[in-house]
Parts: sequence; C-alpha cells; structure tokens
Amino acid sequence: MLKDQDRIFTNLYGMHDRSLKGAQSRGHWDGTADIIGKGRDWIIDQMKASGLRGRGGAGFPTGLKWSFMPKESDGRPAYLVINADESEPATCKDREIMRHDPHTLIEGALIASFAIGANAAYIYIRGEYIREKEVLQAAIDECYDAGLLGKNAAKSGWDFDLYLHHGAGAYICGEETALIESLEGKKGMPRMKPPFPAGAGLYGCPTTVNNVESIAVAPTILRRGPEWFAGFGRPNNAGTKLFAITGHVNSPSVFEEQMSLTVREMIERHGGGVRGGWDNLKAIIPGGASCPVLPKEALEDAIMDFDWMRENKSSFGTGCMIVMDQSTDVIKAVWRLSKFFKHESCGQCTPCREGTGWMSRVMDRLVTGDAEVEEIDMLLAVTKQVEGHTICALGDAAAWPIQGLVRHFRNEIEDRIKYKKTGRVSAVAAE
Ligand code: NAI
Ligand code: SF4
Repeated sequence: MLKDQDRIFTNLYGMHDRSLKGAQSRGHWDGTADIIGKGRDWIIDQMKASGLRGRGGAGFPTGLKWSFMPKESDGRPAYLVINADESEPATCKDREIMRHDPHTLIEGALIASFAIGANAAYIYIRGEYIREKEVLQAAIDECYDAGLLGKNAAKSGWDFDLYLHHGAGAYICGEETALIESLEGKKGMPRMKPPFPAGAGLYGCPTTVNNVESIAVAPTILRRGPEWFAGFGRPNNAGTKLFAITGHVNSPSVFEEQMSLTVREMIERHGGGVRGGWDNLKAIIPGGASCPVLPKEALEDAIMDFDWMRENKSSFGTGCMIVMDQSTDVIKAVWRLSKFFKHESCGQCTPCREGTGWMSRVMDRLVTGDAEVEEIDMLLAVTKQVEGHTICALGDAAAWPIQGLVRHFRNEIEDRIKYKKTGRVSAVAAE
C-alpha cells in the first residue's frame, strides 16, 4: 500500500489548501527554475526513465511522446495541449486534481512546455466541469500575479502563457485530434493519424497532447527522481496513479495507489468491499466504458495494470473501475453503453456511424430477449467490421464491450432469448 509520503496528490487526503501558498507549503513550485535549467534533453530523459505511461487511457509513454517534438524550430510555434475533457463513463480522477491540486497541473504545464519547446499551452476542460474551471482559472491568475506564468515564468528564463478553454460537452472532443479541431473553432471531428500531433497538431503546428494526470505528476517525478517513480508497480507499468472505484461497492472513492495492485485489493481496501461481500461480485469494467467486462471468475488474481488487462483481453484504460454485483443485468449494462457510443459517434466514418447504430439495435433485442440466438454471432461479426476500421478509437470502444459481453456472458444472453420463447430458463444450456 502506498505510504502517505509517496503520495503526489496530498490534497486529496485531508490537506485541503489549494491556494498557491498551500501548494508551496507542500513542496510544489520548489526549484522549478532549477529543473528547467537542466535543459530539455535532461527532462525528457528523466521522464523516459520514470516509465510514466499516459494516464488518459491509452498508456503511451509520456517521455517518448515529448521526444517526438522537433528539437529545432522550423518557424512554426509549438504547443502543449492538456486534455481535461475527462468524459469516459465512470472516470472522475482528473476532476480531483483540478479541484484540489491545480498547482501541480500548472507547474507541470510549464515544465512540460519547456521540454517540448512550447511557449503556450491550452487546457481543454470538459463543458460540465464548471467549478473545476473556476478553481483552475483562479490558480492560473494567482500564478500570473506571482510571476510563475508569463514572461520569464518562475524566473526560468522561459516565456510561457497558459490558457483555459471550456468545451461544450461532446465526448468525442476528448479524442486528441477532435479536441484540436474544437480548439481551432471547428466541429469536433477526429482527424486521420498520421500525421500525429507532434508533426501537425494545433493550427498545423507541432503539438503534444497529454492527459491532466500525466502532466500533473511530472514535477514530482523530476524532483524526486525517476527511480523513485519507477519503483512502484511492475516493469512497464510503473508509478503511482489515481484510481477510481464506483458501482456496487460500499465506499466509492478516488484514491492514489501504486500501479499493479490487485483487483481484489482495490475493491476491498479502497471500495470498502463489494455490496454483500466478495461472493456477491458478478463482474467489473476495469477502466472506462471501452474496456471489456471481466467476470468474477477471471478476477481472483487479477492485476490492475496495462499489461495484465491486455493479456486478459480487457484494457486498463483510465484505471477507474465499475463494480457490478449479482443483481446486475450485465446485458442491460452493455446495452446502455452501446446507446452511449451510438449517441457520441461523430458520424464521420461509415463503419462507426452505421455500426454503432446496428450494434445498438441488436442490443435492443438482446436485452429484452426478442432476438434469435443466431443474432449473437451476427452481432459479433458487426463488431469485427467496426473494430480497426474507423478514423478514431471510438469505433473500437463501441465494439469491445459487446465482444466482452459475448465472450463471458453468452449463456446469459442465450438463456434470455430462450426464456422469452419458451418460458424456461437455461433451455439453451440444456440442449
Ligand atoms: P492511441 O493509442 O491512438 O494514442 C495514444 C497517444 O499516443 C496519442 O497522443 C497519440 O498521438 C500517441 N501516439 C500513438 N502512436 C504514435 C506514433 N506512432 N507516433 C507518435 N505518437 C503516437 O489512443 P487514443 O485514441 O489517443 O486514446 C484512446 C484511449 O483513450 C482509450 O484507450 C480510452 O481508454 C481512452 N479514453 C479516455 C477518456 C477519458 O475520459 N480519459 C475518454 C475516452 C477514451
Ligand atoms: Fe467519428 Fe466514430 Fe469515425 Fe471516430 S470512429 S471519427 S467518432 S465516426
């Protein structure tokens, strides 16, 4: 279990002073100019050595991403864009950073921007995050007043401006290129990749897009050293991390822990246990709506990290888990997700626009049992047509929960269909 002295986001644990003075008393903004004075290469090398993988869900190595930015300017400005559009169902961890620890994010923005050669950064914050926007703006104003932002920011010799941009509530604007389009004042529709943002991002200029948490942990990593951070978790899954746990647990929470804790530890220690006890557990969705559901039988020794989840046909995502007990209609839960993805599809590419509609219409029939058993395989075939054939990851995200449902709960679907036809439970299994 993570010790108090190893927590980065201490304001989450009772020291509720989010002012600049409070942040400084906890060691933030300490020696920022010295860190910057060590140079771009040093910062990027330290970030690489820390093993930090992007905390927005995809897990791309942060230091490596920073290293893609051009070393010499070709006349175009460079930008950092911080993705604070946190919209993944059940994901509410970045919100805590913005509410309680805004200065860790602002200091991280300055250091990261210097490391990638950007004199300006944008924080794109989710439309529904009104209070968080107010807290962040107040903290940014405080930093300008204290000389920590603006010309010669924090006496580092680096000029740096930070802008807060409020989104309008579209899930797809959390996809990095849709977010960039939206920042440019256009409709939030994802771009084809490549080119990746490091080559052509905001206004066609070199851009790094990072999640809030990835940026907010950077100053502490650089102060305490990459070995310290890499000492938590497992190789390739390093560090401390903000997790969230919701659903059928006794105490839903957001908490900081080391990577690679077990699912059981997470539920029992940080969620207060499954409602009705461990035996009442039915399934989890590990880290956001796009992560395939895992049944209880797969969870006895399950580990919450990128590699374990990938090896077991799910994904770690944002590390924000939904717990479902035996009372859950898991078909209905996935049916609800299929509605969500259909609604949030930007409609730009055919497999996603049409496929999310097809999948959700078949799910309508599965949830009531009004489908034919053969439609289960037909639905799977549609998910395969969508997966990997779309411009952005939303298509995959819509396909994977359904694939997970069929993989683990096929009997339950078949039973429902058969019951509707015959009035007998488990008729299919008995045949
Ligand atoms: P991705 O794997 O395509 O990219 C991840 C990052 O690495 C991007 O910044 C991308 O530009 C960069 N990258 C990948 N390959 C690269 C290359 N060859 N060269 C240069 N840069 C490269 O994943 P994507 O589409 O950005 O994110 C999908 C994830 O987002 C999902 O796994 C899901 O968990 C998560 N998500 C999180 C949400 C939230 O609220 N936090 C909301 C929705 C999805
Ligand atoms: Fe839009 Fe869906 Fe295509 Fe993404 S996959 S670009 S959300 S239509």
